Amino acid sequence: AVFTAPSAFAAEGFKPNYDESKTGSLSLPQAIPAGTKDARLAWETTRRSEILNLFHDNVYGKTFTFKQVKVIKTSAKHPLTLSKGYWQTVDLSLDGRPAQLLMYMPDSAKPVPVFVGYNFCGNHGVTFDPALPVSTQWANPLVCGSKVDPTQVTTLHNTFTPASRGVRAYRWPFDDIVSQGFGVATLYYGDVVADNPADFQRFIQTSRPGEAVGDYSAIGVWAGGLSAVADYLQTRKDVDSDRLAVIGHSRLGKTALWAGANDLRFRYVIANNAGEGGAALARRNYGETLASITTDFPHWFSAKYASYANNIDALPVDQHMLIDLIAPRPVYVASAKEDQWSDPKGEFLSVVAAKSVYQLYTDDIFTTDQQPKTGQPLHSRLNYHYREGVHDLFHYDWQQYLDVGKKYLQEETSV
Ligand code: GCU
Repeated sequence: AVFTAPSAFAAEGFKPNYDESKTGSLSLPQAIPAGTKDARLAWETTRRSEILNLFHDNVYGKTFTFKQVKVIKTSAKHPLTLSKGYWQTVDLSLDGRPAQLLMYMPDSAKPVPVFVGYNFCGNHGVTFDPALPVSTQWANPLVCGSKVDPTQVTTLHNTFTPASRGVRAYRWPFDDIVSQGFGVATLYYGDVVADNPADFQRFIQTSRPGEAVGDYSAIGVWAGGLSAVADYLQTRKDVDSDRLAVIGHSRLGKTALWAGANDLRFRYVIANNAGEGGAALARRNYGETLASITTDFPHWFSAKYASYANNIDALPVDQHMLIDLIAPRPVYVASAKEDQWSDPKGEFLSVVAAKSVYQLYTDDIFTTDQQPKTGQPLHSRLNYHYREGVHDLFHYDWQQYLDVGKKYLQEETSV
């Protein structure tokens, strides 16, 4: 029972490959073409922006920027009981759309670094505190189990039930984070745009009338939402907005990488079990594939991406180049053993291939080319770990993220 069950695409006969000998030989596009003189200058003056544009044009679509980020209401500060700090909600309006930020902050005389990240099941799903109302936005029953009727996932306005309170609290160890001197700002990804093709289409038609829906992607819109959060955090005196980290799990890990590639305000980027279309190499045929993901979740990517389903070698980028766009900021890719669907080895190889750009800036890069065993995290500016267990975000993962965060966001004078 090691392999995560695949998707609806299975109904069309898709059988994911889990045989290492059948992954094919890897020939990856190069971030810096061989023979380039003064590679760092070439990267900074031309190559980086070329690659960023290639990701826009072929994978995640146009940048989606929320133009007006307003604060509607800031709640009182509720003291934490297990750590020295408080939580608070901030009701934002993103171009007129309500999105609620839930913040956990340490008591601190000076501004603190903050982890920014989406949650899957509402702010009421990350805590058991009854002071937070149950979200009334579209709920994803496949992910949250809040209303178990998967056949209706894209058609009904599924709502959260009170039983969804705290369902993802285990993913957010707020007291640990706060007691180590960090803040957290989380929001429900469905506040920004609901995770289904119909709602996504409506969202683009309304907010970008006259433009092609397929020129945008949900990942691109969610990434825009994270940048809107950064806009807001920059206005807060208790936040060290030069030390923001962005974190996401799974589809939201893909989103964190894309947000980090676009928005340099994210100084540390964490992609937990991000898999296909995130940290895993698209060219490696193992687990989820470009063909299956663009069939199962067409709205996550621009329409163009699906056109590479049967011709991946024509795709001018691969996911290691997405990591390169984050260089030299610390990046963390993490995989789990029972999450072969996300292709842990493909995630590791992507980090290794990203060294070609990181090494233009720093020696602080792990040296092995062998995927480590579980429980042997590799920490440097490029980070990777493989842990036991399923596709999820656990305390072990956070411990690693915080250790690396302490080094780069707290101890170092510049990041
Ligand atoms: C599905 C999908 C993955 C995604 C995951 C998630 O399993 O195939 O690409 O990462 O959902 O977001 O939980």
